[in-house]
This record gives sequence, structure tokens and C-alpha cells, in this order.
Amino acid sequence: MNSRAATSDGTASATPFVHEGFAYGCDYNPEQWGPEVWADDVRLMREAGVDLVAINIFGWSHIEPRPGEYDFTTLDTVIELLHANGIRVNLGTGTSSPPPWLSTLHPEILPVTDDGTSRFPGGRQAWCPSSAVFREHALALVEQVAMRYGHHPAIALWHVSNELGCHNALCYCDDTAAAFRLWLQARYGTIEALNEAWGTSFWSQRYGQWAEILTPRRTLSSRNPGQVLDFHRFSSAELLDYFRRETAVLRRHSTVAVTTNFMVTAHIRNLDYWSWAGDMDIVANDHYLDHRLADPTTELAFAADLTRGLAGGAPWLLMEQAAGAVNWQPHNLAKAPGEMTRNSLAHVARGADGICFFQWRASLQGSEKFHSALVPHAGTDTVLWREVVALGATLGRLAEVTGSRVVADVAILFSWESWWSGDGESRPSQSVRYLDQMHAAYTALHELGVTVDIVSPDADLSGYRLVVAPALYLVSDAQAENLNAYVASGGHALITFFSGIVDEDDRVRTGGYPGAFREILGITVEEFSPLLPGHVLALDSGAAATLWAERLRVDTAEVVASYVDGPLPGVPAVTRNRHVGGTAWYVATALEAGALRDLLRTIAQEARVTALGPESAGTIEVVRRMGTTHSYLFIINHGPDDVELAASGHELVTDESVDRIVRVPARAVRVIREDPAS
Ligand code: GLA
Repeated sequence: MNSRAATSDGTASATPFVHEGFAYGCDYNPEQWGPEVWADDVRLMREAGVDLVAINIFGWSHIEPRPGEYDFTTLDTVIELLHANGIRVNLGTGTSSPPPWLSTLHPEILPVTDDGTSRFPGGRQAWCPSSAVFREHALALVEQVAMRYGHHPAIALWHVSNELGCHNALCYCDDTAAAFRLWLQARYGTIEALNEAWGTSFWSQRYGQWAEILTPRRTLSSRNPGQVLDFHRFSSAELLDYFRRETAVLRRHSTVAVTTNFMVTAHIRNLDYWSWAGDMDIVANDHYLDHRLADPTTELAFAADLTRGLAGGAPWLLMEQAAGAVNWQPHNLAKAPGEMTRNSLAHVARGADGICFFQWRASLQGSEKFHSALVPHAGTDTVLWREVVALGATLGRLAEVTGSRVVADVAILFSWESWWSGDGESRPSQSVRYLDQMHAAYTALHELGVTVDIVSPDADLSGYRLVVAPALYLVSDAQAENLNAYVASGGHALITFFSGIVDEDDRVRTGGYPGAFREILGITVEEFSPLLPGHVLALDSGAAATLWAERLRVDTAEVVASYVDGPLPGVPAVTRNRHVGGTAWYVATALEAGALRDLLRTIAQEARVTALGPESAGTIEVVRRMGTTHSYLFIINHGPDDVELAASGHELVTDESVDRIVRVPARAVRVIREDPAS
């Protein structure tokens, strides 16, 4: 592979991450073991085909055991051992978790939560992103690491910190308040402009001077939504600034590509990765199946498609996943035989050119001793280890796929700003959650066999046959214009309820909802009418719906379906507004899954969207990656039955030719290098 993020700005160097074939790797924490184990580790890594390992992720207390005293003996030995065995290094800067001496000397680096209380060391990531003291010590460490290894031939990639913001994204301390004020001054220029943006005339919140502004700590009532939204923006920007400072140090000593591992996942939402992605020499993501969700495997596909969106369509790296169970969910499900392989190849199908895991060898101690690893506690005479070795071989057989790109007819618009603001306090219904609405739309398309790009509301939409905007609550004027212009120029769009409600200051767009899209949709919504949990509405189309209704009247739109019962019988629930060439659909309620799928089937057909896969309950995934000379058709069969699909070419997993029909056994994956004509 040879990759870099497409939308590079910021500090990204000209250095791409280059790797022969797929990167296959893991976090490796040799400091938890003695040298006798390291020799066994590299032997087994070679057996499995592991060729990229992330080390020094949590190295700080080892390599700087006392302030300013550096000891690289162990790290030197490990790097030389890996290098001698042809295993490339994804070198952590080591700053993710400060050593106890730092927080003992400087307790002011500790993060503060929204109730104003400090969080203590003893876990990880116990530092405030705005702490000048933390930054000084961390950057001094990065300098040492970069100077020592910046030109080492084993170093393939720099891994800045680890999952920045996983625990500490939102710090409410006084240092943060000072940094927040500076950020606000740069954004607004004058205190009057800030008062205007935050709507501080409400509840006597007008600020007279910058010094009066605090972080949005917990209040007796709900907080100012403008302040909360800007605090999210600031906090994301503050950690990005920190990433850039580490990167600047690395750049002084090394030309090796730089990245950090994103958390595009269901439960973490603190960083606006649209603003981060351009700084990555290659976009990397960590993904774990979340069994608290109704359909973790479909969420994997969603996260992978969003990660590809962040990479601007370019290949990306899966930096972490679990070989089996994790340890941080209430119930940590093991993976069934074959599931890890299907998960891995689902990431590959959706654009990953590297598959890595947390972690190499299962820990014996510490918080993560019950987290799975490539080498489990039980050793190598295990189903799991044999699957690890087999996956390495499979990735080897797929090497020619690297560098190819996924093609999609459909885009879903995804916005961290809508997530932050739409899920805020004091909204019409606490049961309407951004990610639920996002997953509902994605799942419907996924089950229809349609490949989806997930893109920013600012993205160029002109290449798509259909654009879906689920619960896109907050849109800037430019974003509204982007979607409106797409429809006006012949595009097909589906917009769902609680979209286009506010501007980028979280200020309501007046004249009837959804202010940003009212004209293009040809409707006016006079009033929201949320439902109590469990209330199911009937529509005259036969569909059922929950959560939400609206007093909606059509202006130029036609009515597709109306409520039969509930608070608004006879009122339109689904509308369609035809334009020259294009159509704007609106859904004013939360359709039950089957009904949303039925509607999207109709819309996709009208928009002439190609569904690559058969319709299934997400059990069969079909995705195509296009290379310069060939295309590759991935078929992932999660189901209990063999399936047969049309394809012609050469199947790379089994190394067999395929003539018109490929049989994909139950729970297996097939990847067909397609004949040019097909
Ligand atoms: C994250 C971290 C890893 C590890 C895993 C466990 O992804 O980056 O250090 O804690 O979670 O799932």
C-alpha cells in the first residue's frame, strides 16, 4: 500500500506510509514481559505474518523513569530484534499516559470533570489537554524519541500518543478555561459577537469581559447550548493542536509518516475528525464490536465507511481491533470461529489496507488482562491462534487488492457538530439520538445491499446518485446550500426529521422547520410533536413509526404517506418534492426498520442506485474495490447458509477461477478479481 489522506492541510508531510501488501500487525507491549518471551514473540509473529507492530504506546514510565533521565535500553533491544526479523515498527511517541512522578510533581496536569473535581492518576490518560506543564514534559519526551529513532530503518510509521481524547477530551479545569477564552477570542473577536452567538440575552447570561467565561461546568439548570457546543469545538481543536505539536517535533528529526489512531466508534464522539483527517499521513482507526448495540456487525461496516470518508476515499489502516472479546463492556462476548476473519475482511472490503489488533500477547496483569490478544493466555494450541495465522496467509493472498478504492453511488452526511448539538440538553425528545438515526438510515441501505460513502456535509456531492441526511440538526449556511444545490441540479436526497433546524450558532432557523431545507423539500413544519416511549403510530402506507411526529403541511411537495392515528391523524409523514431531474424526500417520523428499508428501496430505485449485494438482514455484504487494472468484488457471508452470487474472474482466497457464479460457504469470505468485462 502507498497512502495518504486526500484532504491534506495542516502539518502532514510529503511522506506517504508505504508498505508492501497489507500491513498485518498489533500493539506490542514487550515491557510487560522478559527478554525470554520476546524471542518467542518474534518467532510467532513471523509464523503469523505479522509485519507491523506498534510499540512504546505506554512507554513513558519505562523510558523516562525519573524526570529528564532517559533509558532506551529495552526499547533499543526490542527495535533491533524486530528489525532483525523483518518486522516494521509503528513507533509510539509514548506520551499517552504520564508516569506517576509527573503527576506527583505537577498535580495541576490532572484533568477536572464537569463537577469541578479532579480525576486522579492510577488509570491512564490522566492529563489536561491544555496543560502547559504536561505539554512541556510530553514534547521533551517526543524530542528524545524522535532524535533517537527518527532515521532508524525499522520505523515505518509514527504513532502519536494513543486514542487522543479517549478519556480526557473534555477537561473543565482553570488552565482549560484560559485556553478556551483565547480560542473564543480568536473565533469571535469581540465579546459582543460571542454574546450574540451564544444568545446570552436569555437567562441574564450576558458577558461583560472574557475573564467571566468559564468551561461549561455542571449547573443547577441546563447549560447555555452555545457555550456547550463551542466547548466541544474548542476541545477537539485543542487536542488537534496537541497532535500538531507532537508532529512538529517528529518532523524536525524524521521524514517518516505520522498518524494517530482515531476512535470512529459508537460510544466516543468528542473529536470532530473531519477537522483532523487532513493532518494524517494515513488515516488510522480503532474499532471494536459493541455488543451493547442491536447490530454490532453493521456498525462495523458503518464505522469502516466513515473512516474511508475521513481518508477522502484513500486506503486507511485499521490500527486496533480485538481478536476475541474485549474487557470493557458489561458483557464481553467472544468471537465465534471465523468471525475475526470476517470482521477483518469487512474492514478490507471497505478500504482498509492494513489490519492490526490490540494486542499481541494477552496481559497477565493490569486492567486489560481479560482482553483478548493474538496470543491468548492458553497459548498457540488454540482455535484463535490458528485463525490468526490463517488470516495472515489470507491477507498475503489478497496483496494485489491494496491501493484500490471503494466505489459508492450513495452518500450519507455525517456531522459531529450535529451530534454534539442535536443530542444536547433541553431538546424536544431525549429519545431522539443522533447516532440512532444515523445507524437506522445506514442499516436500511446496508440491508438493501447498497454501498455507502459517509461524508461531511461540506463534501462535494456531485458524484452521488443519492444523498441521505439523517437528523442533520445543525447546518451552516454553506452546508445547507451544498445539499440544496445538489438537489436543484438533479440530485436525489432523503432528509429525515430534526434536520436543518439551527445554524452553526445553534440558533433556530425561523419561518417553519426545517429552515435550512424547507424550500427544497416543499414543506413547512409548524410544530414538533414527539411521542412517549413505546407509542407506535400507524401510517396509511401500512408502515409503523415511533418517537416523533410533526405538524407538517405540504407547499409544493406531494404526500407519500400520512398518519392514521396518534396526535396528528391525517397529517403528512412522508413527502416527495420533485425538481428538474432530482427529488427531495422527507420523513417526519422514525419509521420502523422495515418501513424505512422499503422507502429507501423505492428512493434508491428512482435514483438509479446500483445495489451490489442481495437484500439480506445484513448477513451478506458485497463491496467492490476498483484498482487501476482490476476490480475486486468482496462477498462476506455472515449467515449460516452457503450463498451463490453472480461473479466471474479469479477468487483470491481459494485461488480458484470463477465462471459466472461464485459459491460462498456459510460464514466465509470470497474476493474475486473480476474479469475486465464484468
Ligand atoms: C483502546 C486502546 C488500547 C486498549 C484497547 C482495548 O483501543 O487504544 O490501548 O485499551 O482500547 O480494547
